[in-house]
Amino acid sequence: MHVDIELLKQFESGLDPAHPEKSRIPARVLGYGEISTIFEIDSPSTRDLACKRMPIFETEDEVSHYERIYNEYNAVLNDEIGISVPEYGFAWFTTAKGNIIAFDLQRKLPGESIGNRIIHKLDTDNIRTLFLCVLRELMKLWAFNQANPERAVGIDGQISNWSVAGFDPASPRINSSNKLLYFDTSTPLMKKDGKEQLDPELFLRSAPTFLRWLIRWLFLEGVMTRYYHARLVTIDLIANFYKEQRPELVPPLVEAANDFYATEGKSLGIAPLTGKEIEAYYSEDKTIWVLFLALRRFDRWLHKYILRKPYIYILPGNIKR
Ligand SMILES: Nc1ncnc2c1ncn2[C@@H]1O[C@H](COP(=O)(O)OP(=O)(O)OP(=O)(O)O)[C@@H](O)[C@H]1O
Ligand SMILES: [Mg+2]
Repeated sequence: MHVDIELLKQFESGLDPAHPEKSRIPARVLGYGEISTIFEIDSPSTRDLACKRMPIFETEDEVSHYERIYNEYNAVLNDEIGISVPEYGFAWFTTAKGNIIAFDLQRKLPGESIGNRIIHKLDTDNIRTLFLCVLRELMKLWAFNQANPERAVGIDGQISNWSVAGFDPASPRINSSNKLLYFDTSTPLMKKDGKEQLDPELFLRSAPTFLRWLIRWLFLEGVMTRYYHARLVTIDLIANFYKEQRPELVPPLVEAANDFYATEGKSLGIAPLTGKEIEAYYSEDKTIWVLFLALRRFDRWLHKYILRKPYIYILPGNIKR
């Protein structure tokens, strides 16, 4: 993918993190991840791209390593496992102030094709079909991991990470021939010779310094390893329907998953899921992220009023959970 690095530098130098739309080169926020922000930057060379800004790298070695595994992760998913990813690219540079800024770039996908938008347009039967399409895509990855444990790949299967190619919101239907694209590739969890390639410390960079030890101790290990386990990824995927304000879908999806893992997915030997464990998982996960965001806001406040230092991260507004 062709990347206009000069334009990205100009964008960065005029970025207003508190009001991205008022930046010198204006940008529209396409979405917020828990850790980064995804923009569409308003210029001819970046229109139609989703630019995921990652201000977390401290050294050139770190960002180069990330670039390598980001590219490898996309390639393994797409070429070896058979999970399609959008066209992608990567760029990084050092700003005049000496900060390293990296951008994951991706072909922009239509907003109305993205899973968490689609589920508000579909009836329960179609959502179930979409959910089974996702489990089928994930199955390719579990099969790859079984065959190549020393090169295992992790994935975040949540519905907000998939786009349905050619989805038409005017006639909202899904069938098993609909092609899915997986785009949440900015957390390239993958092993080499059995060893995790992604440095978990990177996740902590956007967290206030005074909290890092707590996060490390509380949940970093769990967050990193859950994405390699079919059962946990499935629980996470279903639990996310609480966050998407569709709790009534949880029981039918538990049933669909259990059917799937008793038939097509039998080789994984997954113990049946229960509604109770999904609920318990969600309330724990929610507590973690609500707390995390609240503390980051506090840190932003500290920077502004007490430390009087610039705050470089962009925080999401209120998230309904
Ligand atoms: N290529 C794209 N085209 C259109 N929208 C996108 C694209 N990539 C991301 N988005 C939007 O941004 C949201 C978050 O993106 P993504 O899932 O990649 O980040 P995340 O992994 O959840 O964030 P983080 O890794 O920082 O926690 C998506 O749900 C989607 O709405
Ligand atoms: Mg995501």
